[in-house]
Amino acid sequence: MIYQVYVRSFADSDGDGTGDINGIRSRLPYLADLGVDGLWVNPWYTSPLHDGGYDVADYREINPIYGTLQDARDLIREAHAADIKVIVDLVPNHTSAQHEWFQEAIQSPPNHPSRNRYHIRPGKGTDGSEPPTNWLSVFGGPAWERLPDGEWYLHLFDHTQPDLNWANPEVQDEFRDIFRFWLALGADGFRVDVAHGLAKDMSFPDIPTETEELLVTAKLRNHPFWDRDDVHTYIRQWREVLDASPNNSMMVAEAWVAPERVHLYLRPDEYHQSFAFNFLESSWNPEELTTSIQKALDDAGSVGAVPTWALSNHDVVRHATRYGLPEGVEWRKWLLEGPHDLLDADLGQRRARAAIMLMLALPGSAYLYQGEELGLPEVWDLPEEVLDDPVWEQSGHTTKGRDGCRVPLPWTANGPSFGFGAGPPWLPQPAYFGNLSAANQALDPESMLQLYRSALRLRRALVPASDEIEWLVPHHPKVVAFRRAGGLQCWVNFSRGEIALPDEATVQLMSDPAETDTGKLPPDACVWFN
Ligand code: NOJ
Repeated sequence: MIYQVYVRSFADSDGDGTGDINGIRSRLPYLADLGVDGLWVNPWYTSPLHDGGYDVADYREINPIYGTLQDARDLIREAHAADIKVIVDLVPNHTSAQHEWFQEAIQSPPNHPSRNRYHIRPGKGTDGSEPPTNWLSVFGGPAWERLPDGEWYLHLFDHTQPDLNWANPEVQDEFRDIFRFWLALGADGFRVDVAHGLAKDMSFPDIPTETEELLVTAKLRNHPFWDRDDVHTYIRQWREVLDASPNNSMMVAEAWVAPERVHLYLRPDEYHQSFAFNFLESSWNPEELTTSIQKALDDAGSVGAVPTWALSNHDVVRHATRYGLPEGVEWRKWLLEGPHDLLDADLGQRRARAAIMLMLALPGSAYLYQGEELGLPEVWDLPEEVLDDPVWEQSGHTTKGRDGCRVPLPWTANGPSFGFGAGPPWLPQPAYFGNLSAANQALDPESMLQLYRSALRLRRALVPASDEIEWLVPHHPKVVAFRRAGGLQCWVNFSRGEIALPDEATVQLMSDPAETDTGKLPPDACVWFN
């Protein structure tokens, strides 16, 4: 299991309100105790942090607010000593506007070679005052920004994140070198940001405008900037670099593509893993979840791979909150628009306990997002004045953004930032975070933290290496059940009543601890038995 560390919000060692590398080092015993095999560390490079560090100004330096390259080396060494691997986050689709390449480009005249590292083009209309295409930014508004000299640059995300021109061999060479740099530092793997981006249709066509969704998702075939065939050329270049290194390293794709296209990224000479985002996005609904699981298994299986599962990450509403909302509520919109009394927080917690057991019983790899082991909900009521996510501004205050899942972790029940650091944290924590702190939960045998610890321990012991999964004919339409090689069964009850377990079942773990010995599986609960 890989544990995702959002550095800024994990642990602050120097009291400046921002998490840092030494904070991660100080919590390695906690992570080892939880049972993690590896860490995925969100971007830690020099950056003005206009998009939480996904705006990289220098790919070979650590942001001073997080520490130094030596701290990174020390973290990797100490993690290895604790048998924990370290995956770094690489951002190849765009740089920060502060990157020296972009600075050089905008200080150079049109047609200068330095401009060809980005997509910088004249606009449309007689005076060039219209953007070159109708493409929209994922964060809202047009994907083009005009420079003082009249040309436009492409940014699929924030206007401070200009897109690189991957058709330029110089860009390709630079990234192969950046991979080598982090491999030399000891990295065991790479999470690749916007893995379905990079390649652009260099004829720059407009997108048909039937629906706005088409403009920003990869659902359109032959989309001018998502999931294009050329991207696989670059992926293979990186894979060659990885395979040539002695680190035995891997890479995992953040590719938001249709489930039936994930396998393209998982071919033997491409990524080792690619997230099954359709599973993450499924509602708490047996048909939807089973279909998403089977699709991911089939698609990855078609190239001899297995899916990669996650329930949460730093870009989505935390699942303890999503599962507490009625089915059909669009959670990103709900953050701002509500109605907030639709949320049943207890139900969300109950389902989150069942969901992690379901996920950890599946074949494939599993990623956890920091704080989900504490059952942290989305902090949906952050006041507007503290919002930091560029989505808030770029969407003209119509989308609240992702700050609510990035609130610093509570380690202790009290203290200025519940043990996160010695002073106030960069985003305010709600008062109830104290109760959810790791220290409190360590003392409670029925806490979410203890469930995660038990589930991860049992997963190592009971879940087989073989990828086989046998769906069991449901004896109730609202029960999802499967068996793994070796006999472990996993059942989830989506019905409104209790379900009897087979007489001979030996329960290994139940998400509702009060029911472990009753021979029954209550609603919204999961059991592992053999
Ligand atoms: C995906 C990252 O996970 C997200 O946080 C970021 O804003 C975009 N890519 C742009 O880099």
